[in-house]
Amino acid sequence: MTYLDRDAQLKADNAARPAPGTVLCRLDEVAEPGGKSFRYREGGDVFMGLVVRFGGKLVGYVDSCPHFGWPLAYDDRHLFSGEHLLCTGHGALFKPLDGMCVAGPCLDEALSEWPVEVVDGVVLTR
Ligand code: FES
Repeated sequence: MTYLDRDAQLKADNAARPAPGTVLCRLDEVAEPGGKSFRYREGGDVFMGLVVRFGGKLVGYVDSCPHFGWPLAYDDRHLFSGEHLLCTGHGALFKPLDGMCVAGPCLDEALSEWPVEVVDGVVLTR
């Protein structure tokens, strides 16, 4: 599997995907609005996750753009263009709370959900 293999990241038996209940970070480590990236490797499997804070809510996505499978940002500075999350690959814009692409080369496709929750100020996988 390559770093950018979107299908492999999404597969149910991806050994690198963190188990439910895995501690990711403190909520206050995620900018509002903004995002934070997470990378996991297990054997030959890779998983890239992203949590986004926007409008007082926090959501998680597999950090893999529907266009080419690239992560949305390379330096953990998730960029917002107005009200939208920006993929730095080719400029796709996503609605931050449902992951729908509203402009760019993957129009009407969506980021894949990565369920997360906040418990006592800590972000966990669900
Ligand atoms: S990889 Fe995101 S727009 Fe091309």
